[in-house]
Amino acid sequence: MSASLNTLEAIIRKAGDIALSHFNNLQNLEVLQKSPRDFVTAADVAVEKYLQQALAETYPEYGFWGEESGQTENQENRWIVDPIDGTHSFAKGQYYWSISVALEIQGELILGAVYAPALNDYYCAEKGKGAFKNAKRISTSPETDLANSMIGTGFACLRSYLEDNNLERFCRIAQRTTGQRRLGSAAMDMCLVADGQLDAFWEQELNLYDIAAGALIVLEAGGTVTDFKGNNGVFPKQILASNGLILEELLTLM
Ligand code: IPD
Ligand code: CA
Ligand code: CA
Repeated sequence: MSASLNTLEAIIRKAGDIALSHFNNLQNLEVLQKSPRDFVTAADVAVEKYLQQALAETYPEYGFWGEESGQTENQENRWIVDPIDGTHSFAKGQYYWSISVALEIQGELILGAVYAPALNDYYCAEKGKGAFKNAKRISTSPETDLANSMIGTGFACLRSYLEDNNLERFCRIAQRTTGQRRLGSAAMDMCLVADGQLDAFWEQELNLYDIAAGALIVLEAGGTVTDFKGNNGVFPKQILASNGLILEELLTLM
């Protein structure tokens, strides 16, 4: 069966129900530390287990790469999954966390979906067919002036050992923009760019599962996805998503 956004949505919404059952019972949530300052919860594991099984049952021809369980054999054509992007927010009872699922065929992103169950927002895109939020078409913002812009970023827990730890870049950009946000889910941040709620978002040292779905959603909404030098492509170690109109000015600050 060739993959469709509708079938995928039914699977992801069920995964959302599993996540919400944990989110609504946080006092009993099992939280473990993968490494200092990096959490994983029973919800992350349960959501990924369900998604892996449901996707394999429905689409046995595709492989799977999930943050918590790693990669299966077929990585040429694969689902790329972050079961909960924004685990820290989730564990704190905040609403900005999401389930991120992308389908990549021979290196090309074909489908992407990001579901924020606590907000009841569902973003998706299919290559060449536009981007949608809750079934309505979305597009990136018309903002042309960096000074008026609202920009998102993130600071990874495992990044503090790096010399370039994003703090200086953040200060440079904050001094030249009106609004800055750190919402805690890179997948969601990308969708907010696609929806024009943010004019741009950047982060460094991410993994493909954080941004694969969001990248397709941004591109299908008319935005750009580049590295910090402006090269087009999905670069998890240097991801910059924008409305395209403030990109050039923003690149001078990266
Ligand atoms: C994290 C979120 C966060 C970003 C971190 C990621 P996780 O993913 O995307 O916004 O700043 O770098 O690791 O660990 O919650 O799946
Ligand atoms: Ca993540
Ligand atoms: Ca995660």
